[in-house]
Amino acid sequence: MLTWDEFHQEEPLTQPAQDALDTPVLQTPAVQKSPPSTPKAVSTPAQPALETVNKKINGSALEQAIHDLMDLDVSAGLEELEGTATRVKVDDKRMINCRADLNQLVPFKYDWAWQKYLDGCANHWMPQEVNMNADISLWKTPGALTEDERLIVKRNLGFFSTADSLVANNLVLAIYRLITNPECRQYILRQAFEEAIHTHAYQYCIESLGMDEGEIFNMYHEVPSVAKKASWGLKYTRSLSDPNFKTGTTETDQELLKNLIAFYCCLEGIFFYCGFTQILSMGRRNKMTGTSEQFQYILRDESMHLNFGIDMINQIKLENPHLWTDDMREEATRMILQATQLEIEYARDTMPRGVLGMNAPMMEEYLQFIANRRLVQIGLSEQFTGVNNPFPWMSEIMDLRKEKNFFETRVIEYQTGGALSWE
Ligand SMILES: [Fe+2]
Ligand SMILES: [Fe+2]
Repeated sequence: MLTWDEFHQEEPLTQPAQDALDTPVLQTPAVQKSPPSTPKAVSTPAQPALETVNKKINGSALEQAIHDLMDLDVSAGLEELEGTATRVKVDDKRMINCRADLNQLVPFKYDWAWQKYLDGCANHWMPQEVNMNADISLWKTPGALTEDERLIVKRNLGFFSTADSLVANNLVLAIYRLITNPECRQYILRQAFEEAIHTHAYQYCIESLGMDEGEIFNMYHEVPSVAKKASWGLKYTRSLSDPNFKTGTTETDQELLKNLIAFYCCLEGIFFYCGFTQILSMGRRNKMTGTSEQFQYILRDESMHLNFGIDMINQIKLENPHLWTDDMREEATRMILQATQLEIEYARDTMPRGVLGMNAPMMEEYLQFIANRRLVQIGLSEQFTGVNNPFPWMSEIMDLRKEKNFFETRVIEYQTGGALSWE
């Protein structure tokens, strides 16, 4: 079979076609290209395609195409799609319902969003860089892990392997087009890629350990404590992912705000914390250290996602104070309480007994402590009085400056952009 280049060597362009390539674009095209002289006897399945190409570059089609270009209005469509076509000033920029051109990244208004984009890039990592050999050996050695420990690994890989897809889908299909600021969109694109890396990391663990992929990837349908969390998040994606959904009214702007609270504060800010704590606790006990290292990288990314979401929510509130009504505050509080309850149920399901120096009541207190933080971070009141953090080491892991010797891996050394100071 001939390659594309060989085909053109064998059969040089006929003169009219060559003329069309050599002449200025706006010149009237030459006459129709004559059919190729290939004998009918050697006709191949590619022949109809060649005839189509010939028809497409015939005189009248090319003439019409060039004529249409002459009529092109360079501003038409852009305004409708991405705001006005004039030069953007900082004061024109807004988080939602902005009419300024969204293709002009600068001048920056939200430096926090751009800085997070730079930090995210500087923290780039890939799952294959983590050595999984110790985990594979431990997982496959009978009795090396208790049944309770095995349950924790399976449940968490089951939950996270699909949860990060839900987050990525929400970013791409629901909120991206509704956040009308280019520096925030730049970070959202970075975040979406990181969610793909996280899903990759879970898949990499599942494959390395030789798990039943069907069982793990279907837990979000089949295991109630996992399924409830997934369906709670999904309902906030549903209305916004409708292509006809538009912000611009108080009601629809509040819908968007609820989606951001659901995904950033609840899903990434609460639903991830029982699982992260359990897997990282294993790593601290020198068990499943490769899986723990993957989770540690992911937690570092997720901390940034959460902070970015909180910054977005608070900025939208600042620019649109009429959205933050008493009803909206009550609804936001109710959402965070519901998410906390679902995560407590997940803790009970994954820890029927004490394991790894923790148990479900300790996790319940930790989740209430986390919920209080989420409430305060978006300007609401704490709902759980007198709760403390039973796992202070989790804060240390999230504080990048203190994780230096945690697994004695090259977490600290790994940075591609060289833009972060870790000391
Ligand atoms: Fe993620
Ligand atoms: Fe995330």
